Amino acid sequence: MSSMQDKVKELLELRVKARLGGGEKRIEKQHSQGKMTARERILTLLDENSFEELDMFVTHRCTNFGMDKEHILSDGVITGFGTINNRLVYVFAQDFTTYGGSLSETQAAKICKVLDMAMKMGAPVIGINDSGGARIQEGVTSLAGYAEIFQRNILASGVVPQISAIFGPCAGGAVYSPALTDFVMMVKNTSYMFLTGPKVVKTVTGEDVTTEDLGGASVHAVKSGVAHFTAENEEDGLSMIRHLLRFLPSNNMETAPEIECTDPIERVEDTLNEIIPDNPNKPYEMKTVISNIVDNGEFFEVAPLYAKNIIVGFAHMGGMSVGIVANQPSHMAGVLDINASRKAARFVRFCDAFNIPLVSLVDVPGFLPGTGQEYGGVIVHGAKLLYAYGESTVPKVTVTLRKSYGGAHIVMSCKQLRGDLNYAWPTAEIAVMGAEGAVEVLYAKEINAESDPQKKIEAITAKKEEYNALFCNPFKAAQYGYIDEIIEPRNTRYRIIKALQSLKTKHLENPAKKHDNLPL
Ligand code: HXC
Repeated sequence: MSSMQDKVKELLELRVKARLGGGEKRIEKQHSQGKMTARERILTLLDENSFEELDMFVTHRCTNFGMDKEHILSDGVITGFGTINNRLVYVFAQDFTTYGGSLSETQAAKICKVLDMAMKMGAPVIGINDSGGARIQEGVTSLAGYAEIFQRNILASGVVPQISAIFGPCAGGAVYSPALTDFVMMVKNTSYMFLTGPKVVKTVTGEDVTTEDLGGASVHAVKSGVAHFTAENEEDGLSMIRHLLRFLPSNNMETAPEIECTDPIERVEDTLNEIIPDNPNKPYEMKTVISNIVDNGEFFEVAPLYAKNIIVGFAHMGGMSVGIVANQPSHMAGVLDINASRKAARFVRFCDAFNIPLVSLVDVPGFLPGTGQEYGGVIVHGAKLLYAYGESTVPKVTVTLRKSYGGAHIVMSCKQLRGDLNYAWPTAEIAVMGAEGAVEVLYAKEINAESDPQKKIEAITAKKEEYNALFCNPFKAAQYGYIDEIIEPRNTRYRIIKALQSLKTKHLENPAKKHDNLPL
């Protein structure tokens, strides 16, 4: 019988072995591709010395294809818990050096264990994906493992924040775990996500496409909207995740931590009194407005490269975490379309699920017209944003800066969608439609009957002026109480923070139901 010291020595030796994963050669290959190993990633992500590893000695149970002759400790995924900014989080990171990080029955069980613990403890989960997909030697047990993970992602949705980092391959059905989580991050040039790889694409559709052009960060951050964040490299990505968590509560029963506010809440920004151009068709930069009103000008944008006509992201205002949704007049005039509606709806629902107040900054000329949008189902996609705002019960503060027309006015958190405090700048134009369209509809006959072109122009201008004077201002809406107050632009920061402070005790519940039927 060996002594206790021998047993401890054996444990320590096994740990060293486990930490080598698939071995030095494969670790070298990983490093040579600019990638960290799974444990290195976790140690970089978490607070120093906070990582507590679990299931280090798990091995696969497969006997096919000679697998019974080799058992690599940890079985291709490193799991455990630790802290980020001193708050508990659960993590898993697939280890590409072990069977290409491929998912076995036992690897899935390890991931499920941390997902279950995160749910029990009410803590966020961060999953770092780097895997060749289902462990081919295992067959259907691997598929069942994926399904077990997906089921937990689904049940955890809206209960604890789930963040997925894609730091290598993520292909086939494996992409659905990240897709079910709240935020997806990709790293430039070293990560990709697709359902079927370039070879299958070539066989089925004849298309020639590279891995990067099919599912790289550039594709998913810009074109598909699957990825919310793009990192320059892995360190950058991991530090972005740490930063993101500063805005989030640990679970849906909590509110996000309030941080010390070093930026005076009564800070006046005179430049905002001049930011709206005299010409209503001229754009301005909405991000300037955002950085002027949030604490220390710090805005953490989500999906900055996708559907740029709407801006969404997190900031602190008076130390409180807020979700900001803002139309962007500098991109497609800030019009709402399919992609913008989907992007903002998902963000609004995330904020509502996790008790993060919503601040909406409105300058929207309407929905984008045309067959492209109608055939693509803009009715249903636009309804998603409408639905998201309407169902949300978190504090909602809306400021209309300029245009707020038609259906888009309603969608963008109007008073009747249970907006708590709806403010407008004096430059706001809240109406059914712009003067141009309105005059065309109302006075088409008279205008067409006029044969003198000069007189025609004069008649149109006169009618437009009449319409503008009557409708293109915030006073009509304020008269009805649809706008709670017209505010001076330079005081916007103060007014929003005071509003948010007053709404801290807001209590509103939706009718009991099994679940809603969001227009998907
Ligand atoms: C078992 C795998 C594996 C897998 C990779 N490996 N993928 N082992 N099952 N799925 C192993 C390799 O055999 C190799 O072992 C090591 O991991 C590294 O792989 P390489 O091919 O050398 O690496 P690289 O050249 O970087 O290529 C990476 C790759 C490629 C593009 C991911 O490995 C690949 O195409 N793998 C198969 C992908 C795939 O078709 N997966 C199944 C998809 S179906 P050694 O011993 O040489 O180091 C699926 C269904 C999921 O996932 C459904 C969910 C619902």
